[in-house]
Amino acid sequence: MSQEHADKAGFETRAIHAGYEPDPTTGAVIPPIFATSTYKQDGVGGLRGGYEYSRSANPTRTALEGALAAVEEGERGFAFASGLAAEDTLLRAVCRPGDHVVIPDDAYGGTHRLFDKVEQAWGLAHSPAPVSDVDAVRSAIRPGQTRLVWIETPTNPLLNVGDIEALAAVAHEAGALLVVDNTFASPYLQTPLALGADVALHSTTKYVGGHSDVVGGALVVRDLELAEQVGYHQNAMGAVPGPFDAFLTHRGLKTLGVRMDRHCDNAEAVVEFLSGHEAVTQVIYPGLPEHPGHAVAARQMRRFGGMVSFRVAGGEEQALRLCDRTRVFILGESLGGVESLVEHPGRMTHASVAGTDLEVPADLVRLSVGIETAADLVADLQQALGD
Ligand SMILES: Cc1ncc(COP(=O)(O)O)c(C=O)c1O
Repeated sequence: MSQEHADKAGFETRAIHAGYEPDPTTGAVIPPIFATSTYKQDGVGGLRGGYEYSRSANPTRTALEGALAAVEEGERGFAFASGLAAEDTLLRAVCRPGDHVVIPDDAYGGTHRLFDKVEQAWGLAHSPAPVSDVDAVRSAIRPGQTRLVWIETPTNPLLNVGDIEALAAVAHEAGALLVVDNTFASPYLQTPLALGADVALHSTTKYVGGHSDVVGGALVVRDLELAEQVGYHQNAMGAVPGPFDAFLTHRGLKTLGVRMDRHCDNAEAVVEFLSGHEAVTQVIYPGLPEHPGHAVAARQMRRFGGMVSFRVAGGEEQALRLCDRTRVFILGESLGGVESLVEHPGRMTHASVAGTDLEVPADLVRLSVGIETAADLVADLQQALGD
């Protein structure tokens, strides 16, 4: 699909068509898996379509990257071997020793570990701030030293919401860039670049891939100078996905819109059931009017997503029992796949932050609500809660 056509097309049309024209030699409607590391040159330097070596570029990856840019409303998309590989590449492309980054005080554990245990050793400082508090983020900025304000929205697992527009203004006032980890919302529900952010980041392992069968990451940017730096580092550092992974991720992206609508429908059914249950003391979902980030989420998200967290009256013991008893919800980490998952953040995804300010309540359960039959999901929770 031409760039001009893609610019005017709706989300699903872009997800399905942008970044690829049916193969000129065979007419293949879907990008072939180009399992090749190198390319024949027509004379020295005579590259066909710019391809010379598959770390630098591979046509299967090029198609995915074009589609990612189109759905995130950016200029350039870059695919990586994992979400963390995307993060590390961005940090080295933009930051230098002595620089500073503001990160969420409830950042995804792996992101926190990357900053705390890896980047810090290379001279990159960071300070945590709550994404839901614009003033706190502003105060955490070190003038002249902060290069990035880095947020997730909604966050994991407490689903806090950051105001992308307001935080972009705060970052830009200080001469910093705003990075939004858009993994939880997905580009179908939220497009940070259109709200003023400079970088949209994904673990495509989650909703973009959507089938729990591939690990990947992505960066999408608007500014061409920044794209140049990211592209240079993508090649120079080499954390790229292979063509099989790029193919799977791209296949997932094509159905993101219809999947997300079903994730949201099912999450709403689950939230309604949990909200009326006597053993549930709190349901955390940005779609609920009592959620502190509801108004901001309603403004910047199309719907409220497939992630639901809740607390149970019976404390940690009941939370663990529930995780043990579900039959449709599979006990496991990760999120964003077609199958529903349940987990106990305190003992699983967030065990490493026990005893710190980031500790999560022991009676908390997190659900990644899949796209199965809604009644089956509700019935499963009902039996697991002991009814
Ligand atoms: C919000 C968020 N960002 C980044 C990552 C890291 O992505 P990956 O596991 O693909 O490296 C994850 C993984 O769980 C995540 O949930």
